[in-house]
Amino acid sequence: MRIRRNTYQKVCHQIASTIKKLVNDSEFSVLGLATGSTPIGIYEQLRKMDVDFKKTLTYNLDEYVGLDKSHPQSYKYFMNEHLFKHKEFHSNNFPDEKLCPYYDSMIDNSDGIDIQILGIGTNGHIAFNEPGTPRDSVTRIVDLTENTIKDNSRFFNSIDEVPTQARTMGIETIMKSKEIYLVAQGKHKKEILEKAMYGDITPEIPASFLQEHQNLKVYYSD
Ligand code: PGA
Repeated sequence: MRIRRNTYQKVCHQIASTIKKLVNDSEFSVLGLATGSTPIGIYEQLRKMDVDFKKTLTYNLDEYVGLDKSHPQSYKYFMNEHLFKHKEFHSNNFPDEKLCPYYDSMIDNSDGIDIQILGIGTNGHIAFNEPGTPRDSVTRIVDLTENTIKDNSRFFNSIDEVPTQARTMGIETIMKSKEIYLVAQGKHKKEILEKAMYGDITPEIPASFLQEHQNLKVYYSD
């Protein structure tokens, strides 16, 4: 497994260009999208690119339980601000209360995710698949760990406002993606990224399951 090292700007440009090529070259395309600090630069690049998403369907990885789409920290709000209000898509899906039970079959019926963007948590989570998540997990409601609540509290006024549950794609859902781009940005992610990519494959580090994916590209920037 090779970890590609480059500046954050270059990593984002490379991934955005790959997405642009997929979308422009395909009759219909399906993207798996992530929120958080990591993918912001990718969306910034995509906003500037000449790319028509009208025949592109998106599935976001996760969404908090209990935050309405008008809440600035909801992932629907985030995606709207960073991408969806700037570019018109065929449709944008989230594992919210309504779609969560059908999410995996919806993705299968769309012929799977062509490109999935992923970040990694400092505890090794991918999406909200926290340590201990089994390989065969699918989209479902989960409790967030204290570590994740603490990490994400930087976006809220206080830690008490951070939701304690979320709905998330499972490991199995993510592993079915045809191509995965895992991005870790910042020195605080270096150690967990290396453990996940070079250490044992274990539910204790959910990102380690990605070692078994046939079409995974991994990027690190300081
Ligand atoms: P971040 O989160 O991009 O905000 O660092 C990544 C994650 O927790 O999956």
